[in-house]
Amino acid sequence: MRHLLTGFEFSQDEYLEILETAAAMKAEPHKYTEAIKGKSGAIMFEKPSLRTRTTFELAFYRLGGHGVYLDLQNGELGKRETIADYARNLCRWVDCLVGRVYSQKTLEELAAYGSVPVINALSDLYHPAQAMADYLTVKEHLGKLQNVKLAYLGDGNNVTNSLCVAGAILGVDVTCFCPQGSGPDVQIFTQASELARQHGCKLCVDSDPSHVRNFDVLYTDTWVSMGDNTPLESVKKKYMPYQVNQQLVDASGAQIVLHCLPAHRNYEITDEVMDGSKSVVFDEAENRLHIHMSLLSKLI
Ligand code: CP
Repeated sequence: MRHLLTGFEFSQDEYLEILETAAAMKAEPHKYTEAIKGKSGAIMFEKPSLRTRTTFELAFYRLGGHGVYLDLQNGELGKRETIADYARNLCRWVDCLVGRVYSQKTLEELAAYGSVPVINALSDLYHPAQAMADYLTVKEHLGKLQNVKLAYLGDGNNVTNSLCVAGAILGVDVTCFCPQGSGPDVQIFTQASELARQHGCKLCVDSDPSHVRNFDVLYTDTWVSMGDNTPLESVKKKYMPYQVNQQLVDASGAQIVLHCLPAHRNYEITDEVMDGSKSVVFDEAENRLHIHMSLLSKLI
């Protein structure tokens, strides 16, 4: 049994297989309508979602399975009964647990006490399925991943961490342009950097956005993560130098611009870029579905 808790679980070959299966499912969805026939999963969300919830529910349905949505936004896991008991119950009924949680520890506990695969649908530290959809999108548009140069701009968060992990495994050169002290998680970055070395690519952190030159891909995300109630206005001064605007896109040389969404238009990304010819943000959102189908078929 395999889990997707951090993204470190899979080899490069397995990542490539997940991406290739997703592409095949996207091209010929009718071939996979019984891939997990009769199987089911619990989709447990402690936080809001548009893309992840919709695409996981649809992924179960399109593969012939069934996803049961458990809304935990008003009752964090572990409050009504222990997480261990919660997992032991669910595993008597379903074949997979998909969790969006405040704490990575919650997912680890579900995996420890449950008996079915657990998929991370976002935690405080990682968003691994998002990163897989992101790199599928990059591969679709640029035709390759090895030594593609991706610049991430903004706050170093769970998305940044997962872009580093998956990028390191897939051979992508990832540079995180973040204000000093707001970069990716140091432990995750260090572990991912060792993988990058093994796969012939590199990870970097840089706080100077004037160095965003000669990149293939630009990527940004919200300056304030979900669940953090800091007003965007209050961090504007800190992050505005990292805004993905037309001037930065032109200077960077990038061919495509990604954003995992939801976007705060004219904060981390301008309308002009988001709606411009280099934006692939809705391809990226669509690919969440195909990656989730691929993951469910592999793990269940
Ligand atoms: N990118 C992402 O995870 O979107 P949702 O929060 O809408 O699921």
